[in-house]
Amino acid sequence: MSPYAHITGWGMCLPEKILTNDDLEKLVDTNDAWIVERTGIRQRYIAGAHETTATMAAEAALKALAVANLNPVKLELIIVSTSSPEHLFPATACLVQDRIGAIKAGAFDLSAACSGFIYAVNIAAQSIRSGALRNALVIGSETLSRLVNWKDRNTCILFGDGAGAFVLQASEEPGGVLSAVMRSDGSGGDSLSVPAGGSRMPTNAATVAEGLHYIHMNGREVFRFATRVMSQATHEAVEKANLTMDDISLVIPHQANKRIIEAAARGMDISMERVVMNVERYGNTSTASIPIATCEAIQEGRLTPGDKVVFVGFGAGLTWGAAVALWSGPFPARRRARPVSYRIWAKIRSYIRRAVRYLESLIWGSHVG
Ligand code: ACO
Repeated sequence: MSPYAHITGWGMCLPEKILTNDDLEKLVDTNDAWIVERTGIRQRYIAGAHETTATMAAEAALKALAVANLNPVKLELIIVSTSSPEHLFPATACLVQDRIGAIKAGAFDLSAACSGFIYAVNIAAQSIRSGALRNALVIGSETLSRLVNWKDRNTCILFGDGAGAFVLQASEEPGGVLSAVMRSDGSGGDSLSVPAGGSRMPTNAATVAEGLHYIHMNGREVFRFATRVMSQATHEAVEKANLTMDDISLVIPHQANKRIIEAAARGMDISMERVVMNVERYGNTSTASIPIATCEAIQEGRLTPGDKVVFVGFGAGLTWGAAVALWSGPFPARRRARPVSYRIWAKIRSYIRRAVRYLESLIWGSHVG
C-alpha cells in the first residue's frame, strides 16, 4: 500500500521592516484610502539588506522542522518555490540545503509564481505517495520588493516579502494531502512578467533604462483571471478528494487582494468565516502567502488536526491550482529533535567543504584530469 503524505511541520519568517500605506504615499501618487478600498492591504514587510530569499527560507524551514520534530539530516528533498530566486543558478534551494545542513537532500527551485507553493506541496506529496522518499521540505520564499519598481504605483503598493514552509512526511495512517489540481495558461504570460534578465532578453543598459527588469502587470486582466479560476480549482480539487464543500473546515487562499478572495468565496458558496484572510498585514507575498496564512490560522486555533483544508492560488504564468488536505500535525515523538542546533554545524561543514575545494585547486591547479 502506498504511504500517505502528511503535513507535519510549518513555519514562517518575516523581515523586520514594515512599510505602511502612509509610507507609500511619500514614494508614489497614492493614498491609504485607495489602497485599502481596492486591495485591502494596510501594510507589508520589506526585506532589509541582510535579509534574502534564502535566509528567510532557511529560517522558516528550521521552524517547520522544529514543529515536525525532524532533524535536517533526515530530509530527502527540498523544494523552494520562488519568483525572486537569489540567482538564475545555483538554485536557492541548494543555498537553503547548505544553510540548514540537510546533507542527504536533493534540492531544486520551482517557478510557478504565486501558485508555486501548491505545485510544490503536490510534487512533494506525490513523491512520498510513490514510495520514492519519506521526508520532504517545501518552502515558499519571496523578496519581490527587489523586483518592484518603486515609482510604479500600479505594482509597488501590492507586494511584500516573507517566507513559509511545510514539512511533509510519509505514514501508513490515512490522511495528509488528499488531492491537488495544477493548471496553466501560457497565453496569458504577458499579463504579469519581469520581461528582462532571462535568456530571451538578457539585462543590458537599455533594458535597465526602460525598467524591463521590474515587475510589469496588467492588473485588471489578472483580477478577472483570478476571480474566475480560484473557485473552479477549489471545486475540482474537492471533488477529486471525494468530498463536498460542506466537508471543508477552512479555505486558505493566496493573499493577493481582499476583493479577489471575497469573490472566490462567493464562487465557492462559503462564508468568509471559513476563509483565511490576512492580506491586510502582509500584502501579496506571492508563493509565501499560503504557508504564512496557514501558520497564522494554526496560531489562532482555526486549523486543528482532523480538519479538512483547501489551499488555492493563482499567479503569473498564468498558473493556478488547489490542494485538499486532512490536517494532521506532527507525528508523536520518541526523541526530541533539535533542527536549529544544526545551523552552526551546517556553517562549519560549509566552511570545511569550501576549504577542501580551495586546497584541491591549489594541489591540482585548474586542470581537469
Ligand atoms: N493609487 C491611486 N490610484 C491608483 C493606484 C494607486 N496605487 N494604482 C492605480 N490607480 C488608478 C489608476 O491609474 C486608475 O486611474 P484612471 O481610471 O484615471 O486610469 C484607477 O486608479 C483605477 O485603476 P484600475 O487598474 O482599474 O484599478 P483596479 O480596481 O483594477 O485595482 C489592482 C487595481 C488593485 C491592481 C487590481 O486590478 C488587482 O488587484 N489586480 C490583481 C493583481 C494581482 O493580484 N497581482 C498579483 C498576482 S500574483 C503573482 O503571480 C505575483
